[in-house]
Amino acid sequence: MTEIESALDPILAKYHRDPTALLQILRDAQDLSGWISPEIRAAAASALAIAPTRIDSLTRFYAHLYDAPRGKYRILFSDNITDRMAGSVALMELMLKKLKLERGKLSADGLVSIDFTSCTGMCDQGPALLVNNLPATRLTARRIDEICGLIRAGAPLDQWPAEFFQVEDHIRRADLLLGAPKKRGEAIRAALALGAQGFLDELEKSNLRGRGGAGFPTALKWRSCRDAPGEKRFVVCNADEGEPGTFKDRVLLQSFAATLFEGMALAALVTGAQKGFLYLRGEYSFLRAPLEATLAEMRRENLLGATIGGAKNFDFDIDIHMGAGAYVCGEETALIESLEGKPGRPRIRPPFPVTHGYLGFPTLVNNVETFCNAAAIATIGAAAYASRGTKQSTGTKILSVSGDCQRPGLYEYPFGVTIAQVLEDCGAPDVGAVQVGGAAGNCLIPEEFGRRIAFEDQPTAGAFMVFANRRDPIEAARNFAHFFAHESCGFCTPCRVGTSLVAGMIDKIAAGHGAQYEFLDLKRLHDILRASSHCGLGQAAMLALGDMMQKFKPAFERRLITRDFEPDFDLDAALARARELAGRDDAAAHLGEDI
Ligand SMILES: Cc1cc2nc3c(=O)[nH]c(=O)nc-3n(C[C@H](O)[C@H](O)[C@H](O)COP(=O)(O)O)c2cc1C
Ligand code: SF4
Repeated sequence: MTEIESALDPILAKYHRDPTALLQILRDAQDLSGWISPEIRAAAASALAIAPTRIDSLTRFYAHLYDAPRGKYRILFSDNITDRMAGSVALMELMLKKLKLERGKLSADGLVSIDFTSCTGMCDQGPALLVNNLPATRLTARRIDEICGLIRAGAPLDQWPAEFFQVEDHIRRADLLLGAPKKRGEAIRAALALGAQGFLDELEKSNLRGRGGAGFPTALKWRSCRDAPGEKRFVVCNADEGEPGTFKDRVLLQSFAATLFEGMALAALVTGAQKGFLYLRGEYSFLRAPLEATLAEMRRENLLGATIGGAKNFDFDIDIHMGAGAYVCGEETALIESLEGKPGRPRIRPPFPVTHGYLGFPTLVNNVETFCNAAAIATIGAAAYASRGTKQSTGTKILSVSGDCQRPGLYEYPFGVTIAQVLEDCGAPDVGAVQVGGAAGNCLIPEEFGRRIAFEDQPTAGAFMVFANRRDPIEAARNFAHFFAHESCGFCTPCRVGTSLVAGMIDKIAAGHGAQYEFLDLKRLHDILRASSHCGLGQAAMLALGDMMQKFKPAFERRLITRDFEPDFDLDAALARARELAGRDDAAAHLGEDI
């Protein structure tokens, strides 16, 4: 055995040499040397009897897998708009300057690399960065200085001050879910007393709708999965939480994990699933160990494992599966592909996961908050639950509030709360716009602050980003456009090409070179993306931008030039090398103004 084969062996054994676990194997293997080296690639492919190109398909797809060396310290600044508003760009520049580095390039001594990544889910305590996947929050120029000192000294991360890595919950308003921690096992005991069918009926009466964004009726999903043919079923918790501006699942995972796992166990009780997965976004790796500890405690307390709560035939356990930096994996079919060890490309639907999900078996996918709600319904009953909120949107909604406000953090309200109320509570007096639902959501202006957070009015998975009047809407539009261009999985042309074109056009407008041509073309692209994209990412990629172009038309028009069009490409400059070779630089060797 070579040295790398021996190092890889325990990792392969941990995952039973199962190619379905390829993403997990590569994540762990990468820790051996900081990247998937040719030796790791060859040894893993041979041990799993798969083509090495299967490994390449993952290293190219997932942003947190590397096929080239990265630094001993891999620094990734969060590129969310609220982090930018809090000064992340200047802080990154400061760090690059202090360490004499260029963005995206490995230092000559192999010590450090610095780049941007999409939102890290720390918008309430930004600016933030990830260092080797660990979040460092509340960055300031002084902290950057200290971090640079630690990097230069080669200090291991466990010797860095603990406060650098402190992640606060920031619960500002609590209701059903974020109030006092629930008594462990209460929800399972209550559901067992009702029986599987009895609890499903209760869930139906509660009118719970999914909190991942689409608001699909939860009881209907659970029933469909239970009734689908197949000898096995799976329960999956979607903890990918990649939507810029959303961080409520982070807090539920950090401080209410037992409630979440109980909610998953209830889904197993109803559907008959024996196996569950928590799909945890790579940026939340720091939560893995405490989550594993909670799972172990729950196994000891007979709340997971065999004959849960003493009930015959109620066997269910949960594995944690790590994501690796791909927003599209939040889409449930992409998530299932990723669970199967493949690049997370959305599947064609139908068939839906409830009939054809993980490895082709009926699979239930719900958001973290949805499972926590299911546990709350078991505990307090459908009637008490449905007495909160509105008729069509029962219960509460947790909002992740960030941006220009005095008290960013989590706010849990009964559905039906107005935007104005949330703004008052978080301390935001001078607001020009609120982005509800993240980059894929809607931009609301003051005339709309009487609107309500509810499925029948303004639905949201939870992001609530506040923009003061002084902010430039085009900067937010640029940030969102680049986010989608970066996160498009490239599977379908409208999204792959469309999102890049949009990002280019917004850059051009922001730089003062855009004309009416671009403005109209953006509107055309909006229609194409919405109508022809294969999945929700492409379909929603221009929602916010469309809102902004309509609601902040003067801000856009001020930036447009009066000519019909200005080319992006400078043909004359591109011919410089030809002139050099020809040895002439006279006027005739240049293109005229009219070209
Ligand atoms: C691009 C994209 C990203 C998504 N990201 C998430 C996510 O991070 N978390 C989530 O629960 N749902 C996400 N969804 C929605 C899921 O596809 C799915 O509808 C949801 O997990 C179902 O759970 P629910 O019924 O409890 O809402 C995303 C959808 C799309 C199109
Ligand atoms: S819409 Fe975008 S993210 Fe979705 S499948 Fe097509 S390319 Fe991939």
